[in-house]
Amino acid sequence: MFNNADVQALYNQYVFQNYGRAPIALVRGEGSQLWDANGKRYLDLLPGLGVNGLGHSPARVVAAVQKQAAQLMHQHNNYLWENQAQLAKALCDKLTGVEAPRAFFCNSGTEASEASIKLARLWGKRNGGKWKIVSTMNGFHGRSYGALSATGQTALQKGCGPLLPGFSYVPLNDVSALETAMDDDVVGFMVEPIQGEGGIFPATTEYLTAARAICDKVGALLMYDEVQCGMGRTGDWYGYQTLKAPAPDIIWLAKALGGGFPIGAMLAKSSVAKEMVPGTHGSTFGGNPLACAAGLAVVETIEKDNLIEHVRKVSMHLAGLIETLRSRHGSKIVAVRQVGLMVGIDLNIPAKTVYTRCQEEGLLVNVTHDITLRLLPAMNVTSAELDEGFVILNKVLGEK
Ligand SMILES: Cc1ncc(COP(=O)(O)O)c(C=O)c1O
Repeated sequence: MFNNADVQALYNQYVFQNYGRAPIALVRGEGSQLWDANGKRYLDLLPGLGVNGLGHSPARVVAAVQKQAAQLMHQHNNYLWENQAQLAKALCDKLTGVEAPRAFFCNSGTEASEASIKLARLWGKRNGGKWKIVSTMNGFHGRSYGALSATGQTALQKGCGPLLPGFSYVPLNDVSALETAMDDDVVGFMVEPIQGEGGIFPATTEYLTAARAICDKVGALLMYDEVQCGMGRTGDWYGYQTLKAPAPDIIWLAKALGGGFPIGAMLAKSSVAKEMVPGTHGSTFGGNPLACAAGLAVVETIEKDNLIEHVRKVSMHLAGLIETLRSRHGSKIVAVRQVGLMVGIDLNIPAKTVYTRCQEEGLLVNVTHDITLRLLPAMNVTSAELDEGFVILNKVLGEK
């Protein structure tokens, strides 16, 4: 049996070195706990970077995937299978304010961003020939060329140019900048209701309300990227519902949708969705029976285990823990942002050091933009698990 160092040696020799990987090789997960190849246990307050929204290997998802794998694993979208239609119905039924929504399935957040850009442009062709897209600075929509072009972070785009034409960026929550950017050639405004990778920055209700009005005025689509904030982690099915923001025309999900299985989804109101006719877009794997079995089991688990309600309660407990952390380590914590189970804690000391020390103490969190500790606990995290994590955070932040 290989240990952490053995696996690391294989990676060093054979795997692309494009990730900053921790030197721990994971072998097993259960809920918010993980074990590595050396037998060490970790409390994971960032399971799968938001993908394992029900924690590691959730029982209903495991059972559904096993059953579906033995029955019909994959088929191409030239045919029908029930669970894709049922998952589409479940996701559409939970949207509010979107007229007769429909779903398209793909395999990741990036692909869902791509599909949304393409849908917006297909729609724009028929609606005045518009094609430009405005998105937000510090946003994140994925790494492929369309999604990267929409990602308003020059550091991530560096060295990859030329990017796609027609993209521009505005600061989040600045209504007048948005008004200026949204000219008659703009087909859509693309925004994460809560910026995730950027460090957990929520859009304000007023901003998204103004964005809706501006889009309507210039005849553009309001497009919400809920890859990270959707699927329940804010205490509602969709992040925009928690923010009490207006409904979008297009919205997309991935990460927690499959409970660990790769799947992405784009939902759009039918008057927009109808522009994606046969031949305009597709995906070989998208929404295959296995992925949709996982997605349906996620929806079922959230419903049967009352996880939306649980998130609301446990988030309040989390808020209390954050407040205590802040009061004890005010000299190191400069800002805190929390929406449900999405947390960003800005430090004035190198967050990487805190991250590494937490890892040594058996706590997994994440660092984004060098200064922000990011926590995305599983929806079924317990108060006791959060307490355990904050004991470690308190200890680590208390060190010199
Ligand atoms: C808001 C948002 N959109 C898109 C993506 C890209 O998703 P994926 O990595 O599944 O392609 C991410 C990933 O972090 C994300 O947070």
